[in-house]
Amino acid sequence: MPVKGVRIEPAAGKLGVLLPGIGAVSTTFIAGVEAVKKGLAKPIGSLTQMGTIRLGKRTEHRVPAIKGFVPLASLEDLVFGGWDIYPEDAYHAAINAGVLDPSLLEAVRPELKKIRPWPAVFDQHYVKRLRGSHVKKAKNKMDLAEQLRDDIEIFRKKHRLSRLVMVWTGSTESFQTPKPVHQTVAGFEKGLAKNDPAIAPSMIYAYAAIQAGIPYANGAPNLSADIPALTRLAGDRGVPICGKDFKTGQTLLKTVLAPGLKSRLLGLSGWFSTNILGNRDGEVLEDPGSFKTKEASKLSALEHILQPKLYPDLYSNFTHQVRINYYPPRGDNKEGWDNIDIFGWLGYPMQIKVNFLCRDSILAAPLVLDLVLFLDLANRCGMKGIQEWFSFYFKSPMCAPDLYPEHDLFIQLMKLKNTLRYLRGEEQITHLGLEYYD
Ligand SMILES: NC(=O)c1ccc[n+]([C@@H]2O[C@H](COP(=O)([O-])OP(=O)(O)OC[C@H]3O[C@@H](n4cnc5c(N)ncnc54)[C@H](O)[C@@H]3O)[C@@H](O)[C@H]2O)c1
Repeated sequence: MPVKGVRIEPAAGKLGVLLPGIGAVSTTFIAGVEAVKKGLAKPIGSLTQMGTIRLGKRTEHRVPAIKGFVPLASLEDLVFGGWDIYPEDAYHAAINAGVLDPSLLEAVRPELKKIRPWPAVFDQHYVKRLRGSHVKKAKNKMDLAEQLRDDIEIFRKKHRLSRLVMVWTGSTESFQTPKPVHQTVAGFEKGLAKNDPAIAPSMIYAYAAIQAGIPYANGAPNLSADIPALTRLAGDRGVPICGKDFKTGQTLLKTVLAPGLKSRLLGLSGWFSTNILGNRDGEVLEDPGSFKTKEASKLSALEHILQPKLYPDLYSNFTHQVRINYYPPRGDNKEGWDNIDIFGWLGYPMQIKVNFLCRDSILAAPLVLDLVLFLDLANRCGMKGIQEWFSFYFKSPMCAPDLYPEHDLFIQLMKLKNTLRYLRGEEQITHLGLEYYD
């Protein structure tokens, strides 16, 4: 099958990275990029920086680095900016987050100190545990969106940026389901002007970005760009969007283990997941509204991977529970326990125990980097609306309304790599391989 690939604009000039939320994840990401640029550390966990892609037949031995295969912005061309409800610069925010060693932060201190967050669009109704003074004031939400646009334009001009992307790294907002105001672009804009309470701050950032032609990713589980009004607007404005909720830690392992159990047709009677976490994210998740948002996101993966309707004898009756406990002594170093009750041949029960002592922001930072670079690539390829091929990065991947999301990590990775092959006009890899035995 002849394949041609897609016309891709070159990654020329500077790429602005807009981050609503200058907290643990975003400062670990920024500090990490600066440290990598100085040769102080390696970008471990980042597909764009360390990943390879096989092309053609296995006998061809063509396995380039992904960053050489598709034209990605270079780390040297990234310029960071962001908003927060606290005025501290990124250096102080990183010290407070307590993720990275002070010696590493010292080495990138000048770069981090330059990043002073702009006043945020914030509504305490959506994040009950936080109280910040560094927030915008306006007569209505449309005016707030315009103020965000002004911040972006000033940033664009000051750094002579040729392109921008936005990744929501702000706190998890309270749970809500789509309301009438979220259904159409016109209704949403009317809602902005009328201060509709169902329009959350993250939606105002997403709206400002999409209107300005800037790709948007949501790293948190709350409803944001995944409403019909904003997915439609993204399509109309030709802007790629994706989300939501970075797939790190416990859910990452869940989406590795569950496909493995299903591959062997081992049954599941229960999966109990609990965590202790002591960072600000953990504190925000103490609020039942924010926790409900996270819980819904964490619970969704198993059902979709195991497909109980197709495998009623194996998966129709399992109990799935997720707990998160705020426990300050651990800071960002989360500990997660999973107890998995499975059954095998003739229904005989077995158990699996997983104890993951992870570091939340260390796992999330490379995902932010990949999303920034891939979203910018998608934009330069003319891709618009929901980018399902970024499901690899999310706990609750966005997809077309009539589809179910793909949660299996390995299918997600195959989809991502096949999309890269498609963009460059390389053959899709099916793993059939019969030709090797002709
Ligand atoms: N670290 C992970 O592994 C992981 C995984 C999945 C999702 N997430 C999500 O990523 C987000 C960031 O996590 P974190 O650990 O950096 O949290 P954090 O609390 O350290 O940082 C979030 C920052 O957002 C700010 N903020 C809140 N509302 C804002 C608004 N409206 N505008 C601008 N800033 C705002 C807060 O003041 C805070 O500084 C959270 O929503 C979290 O649930 C993190």
